[in-house]
Amino acid sequence: MDAPPTTEGRLRALLDATMAIGSESSLESLLQRLVTTAAELTGARYAALGVIDRSGKQLEQFLTTGIDDETHAAIGDLPRGRGILGVLIDEATALRLHDIGDDPRSAGFPPNHPPMRTFLGVPLLLRSVAYGNFYLTEKANGEDFSDEDEEIVMLLAGQAAVAIENARLLEATTQWSTQLESLNEVGNALATETDLGRLLDLIARRLRELLDARLVAVMLPVGDDELRFAAVAGESGEAFLGRALPRASSKTGRVFDRGRSERSDSVLDDPEVDRAIVRGFGVRTGLWVPLVARSQTIGVIAVHDRLGPDARFTDNDLRLAETFASRAAVAVDLSQRIARDVLRRIVDAQELERRRLARELHDETGQALSSILLGLKVLDEKVASVGARDAVSDVRELVVATLHDVRRLAIELRPKVLDDFGLVPAVERLTDSFGGQTGIGIRFESSLGDERLPAEVETALFRIVQESLTNIVKHARARNISIVLTRKPGAVVAVIEDDGQGFDPKTVRDGGFGLEGMRERVGLLDGRLQIESTEGSGTTLIAQVPLA
Ligand SMILES: Nc1ncnc2c1ncn2[C@@H]1O[C@H](COP(=O)(O)OP(=O)(O)OP(=O)(O)O)[C@@H](O)[C@H]1O
Ligand SMILES: [Mg+2]
Repeated sequence: MDAPPTTEGRLRALLDATMAIGSESSLESLLQRLVTTAAELTGARYAALGVIDRSGKQLEQFLTTGIDDETHAAIGDLPRGRGILGVLIDEATALRLHDIGDDPRSAGFPPNHPPMRTFLGVPLLLRSVAYGNFYLTEKANGEDFSDEDEEIVMLLAGQAAVAIENARLLEATTQWSTQLESLNEVGNALATETDLGRLLDLIARRLRELLDARLVAVMLPVGDDELRFAAVAGESGEAFLGRALPRASSKTGRVFDRGRSERSDSVLDDPEVDRAIVRGFGVRTGLWVPLVARSQTIGVIAVHDRLGPDARFTDNDLRLAETFASRAAVAVDLSQRIARDVLRRIVDAQELERRRLARELHDETGQALSSILLGLKVLDEKVASVGARDAVSDVRELVVATLHDVRRLAIELRPKVLDDFGLVPAVERLTDSFGGQTGIGIRFESSLGDERLPAEVETALFRIVQESLTNIVKHARARNISIVLTRKPGAVVAVIEDDGQGFDPKTVRDGGFGLEGMRERVGLLDGRLQIESTEGSGTTLIAQVPLA
């Protein structure tokens, strides 16, 4: 050990340490420098600086000088703050001892710890808050630490306290400003982002940043028993997109049903978590927060694995996620309503256009063709030659066939009977002509009677029957079809069944427009569409629409 520096040398070293506050690149390197300076200025063989965590009860960081790496490794875990270290944490006043081991409060040293006797402990105090302590031992030549040593270390302790406080303030401010920014962004999206897909992405991304999580998923319900990954942010997130979880047996589903948020520090130990699902996703911890809008749960946000050494989330994280989710839910609800409204307008406009075209074809084109037929009749009576008569007859056949086509097209576009007489007669007509054209056996039963249903319900169910029949001809290779229309309390149900080759409804989620269109129509009326089909054994399609 070098001789203790002179007074002037000490002053210079103190000055250097003060300047270092501004120049060291990280808090850790600055604190390390302060520890070394403290040891040098007091002639201590060993020095350490313990930083107390935010709970104020134990040490979160312990920097030393004088102990080499090997000894460090041999001692093992760094002290958390018991014994004499604990006394300093609790009392936050300077302490000088001639021999640590003599003090009744000493907890002794762990194995392989070098012997230490003389001791000087000084708290890192700033505005009565203790940020940590300096611990110095083994002053040169076996001397006790002096008053002057204590004063010098107090000066250095002041510097250390300022540096730690600054670093914490900076961290808190940065975190707070990201959180505010995120909350604001979702708030703005509420007013501006009406595209549902982009909105959901934004929600997942922002919440992930906010909570520093590995994975965030926004789950929305499909049908009555599944929740679909509608947006995912995080490592290999895209792999989940579009996949679905069962509502009854997944944690997400349970949170959806209960409408209450939850936290799990170890998902594998949570009895409600489906282990197979969790293993597949490789997650360890979770937060689940329901999206609630207008008193209804419309989805769930699942957050997994905090980044860093501790994967657990805190209660604070949960509260933040809840605040975030409450705003997000309003935005999602609004954008869903807008999307629905746009869809309704499109469907309505399409139906209107079909009706107009059907009428024009029937009235104008049909009338014109009928007039031509009349004209041909007159012509037929007037011409004398056999050749001319044959020609007229050919033209007449062509016109008759065209008239037939035009009428069929008009009916397909929108049968007048649907508007004039209602769903049951319209489906009767449809099945009659369908059976005639395709040769497939078709049975139609209805228990709806003569009562008319709301126009939009009649149109939707008619279109569903129509598209089902088209699909059966195109894909099923069926021999028999059964169509049943029934009334349940508060609802009408259409069941369309074929005995064809069937298919796997899950694999055609993004297939043609037919099934999707049916789903949309039923969805606009708050109804349900169910498709039961397995390859090789026919298909049953059930559409249920509530009646107001
Ligand atoms: N009754 C059925 N029997 C067998 N397969 C069916 C039946 N209905 C639908 N499918 C299958 O589901 C797929 C999706 O049907 P959908 O009506 O959505 O699309 P599409 O008929 O292929 O095209 P589009 O309706 O847009 O003209 C079909 O391609 C077919 O494979
Ligand atoms: Mg189709």
